[in-house]
Amino acid sequence: MKLSVIILAAGQGTRMKSALPKVMHPIAGKPMLEHVYERSLDLGAADVHIVFGHGGEHLRDYCQDFDVEWVLQEQQLGTAHAVQQASPGLEPDEIVLILYGDVPLIKSETLRQLINHVADDDISLLTVNLEDPAGYGRIIRDEGRVIAIVEHKDATAEQLQVNEVNTGILAVRAGYLNECLSKIDNNNAQGEYYLTDIIEMAVNDGNSVITTQPDNSYEVEGVNDRVQLARLERIKQREIIENIMKNGVTVIDPSRVDVRGELNIGSDSTIDVNCLFEGRVDIGSNVSIGAGCVISNSRIADGCVISPYSIIENAVIDDNVDVGPFARLRPGTTLKQNSKVGNFVEVKNTELGTGSKANHLTYLGDSEIGSNVNIGAGTITCNYDGANKHKTVIKDGAFIGSDTQLVAPVTVGKNATVGAGSTITRDTEDNELTLSRTQQKTVKGWKRPTKG
Ligand code: UD1
Ligand code: MG
Repeated sequence: MKLSVIILAAGQGTRMKSALPKVMHPIAGKPMLEHVYERSLDLGAADVHIVFGHGGEHLRDYCQDFDVEWVLQEQQLGTAHAVQQASPGLEPDEIVLILYGDVPLIKSETLRQLINHVADDDISLLTVNLEDPAGYGRIIRDEGRVIAIVEHKDATAEQLQVNEVNTGILAVRAGYLNECLSKIDNNNAQGEYYLTDIIEMAVNDGNSVITTQPDNSYEVEGVNDRVQLARLERIKQREIIENIMKNGVTVIDPSRVDVRGELNIGSDSTIDVNCLFEGRVDIGSNVSIGAGCVISNSRIADGCVISPYSIIENAVIDDNVDVGPFARLRPGTTLKQNSKVGNFVEVKNTELGTGSKANHLTYLGDSEIGSNVNIGAGTITCNYDGANKHKTVIKDGAFIGSDTQLVAPVTVGKNATVGAGSTITRDTEDNELTLSRTQQKTVKGWKRPTKG
């Protein structure tokens, strides 16, 4: 049967105290709204409608990749009114699932169960038992059957004792939903059109309200402020890290690793404390990620050792490479098999060939470095002349002495040697030693200056 999802996201989110619309605040590096949108895709929804409110127009700009219908709810007159804005285009026989842009951790399995219960004009409702149900609509039952939802502000003292609450998430056939929506009024304590009124209507029409409960109550928790946002962030992180560990990765302290995006990592790899992964990161097997590393949008192959406090962004690293500690790999870095980038080395838009090493205090920018090259400590590729960037080429087997400046564009020949302390401004010959420095001399009898 055809499924449409309506995501309510018109709330102002005033308690976030933010210029950013509430549903755009991220959980695990992705807007809350995107998590909910992805669940709709998991379920194979044919159509997704997002109801947004005034001031939320730029939601559409942020979410340009979403294949959804955007529906403006000019005034927020209640949840039923919000759904009504999206409902005219629905076909009577399709199933409509109502989700919330600020309830980001709902699981597809829970929703699948909910949808499976919809038959005829029955309503399938997600409820949850809460120790502290304050603020929520209470589920009122008679001999076990749901007969109504009473909002906190409309509830009697006796009804307030009920712990089973409405999550707001429900599934219903579109034809019946539309029939009910046209009858809902705003005759209640908040003067709002309550979507929950359809429950009582269904009961009065002789239809059943079938309830499902999620495995975890966090699945239905909403975010109203940044304290709740941080709480759900921790829960989501725990879930991501546990999945990684179940796939055979050692995580020294699961509470001190954050994944803001997608991390794929092979078995027998280890992640030490305080690491952050952003965007799409693919890591192979038997890789060691040391403490305090920040790795974004990169690929690291099997057997690599990334030592502590290395920062890696848009880099591709082949098998058995050593990086760090304190290395910085910037966009466009490729490190070939068995190469090494040591401490205080910055690499940008550079390929470092197989078995080549830059072990200490070096800047390699816009360079093509062959295999088995040794880059001495303090080597700088001077790639920028103040206006343009130029390329440095270092051929296979070259040896660059310490404290060398390679003024690009320049090429160092195959198996060539550059003497320490040289400033190289012209191409060097294959197999030869090139150096540029004044000869060492001793000035006899020279005295250090003294204070006047
Ligand atoms: C609603 C339910 C309540 C349930 C609770 C769970 C109703 C009448 N009440 O109460 O039974 O226990 O959720 O969290 O449905 N929204 C719009 N347009 C509107 C009004 C709301 O898009 O005109 C959106 C909000 O952005 C929010 C969601 O709907 O994401 C819920 O609205 P809110 O006013 O917070 O409902 P509650 O009072 O929490
Ligand atoms: Mg409300």
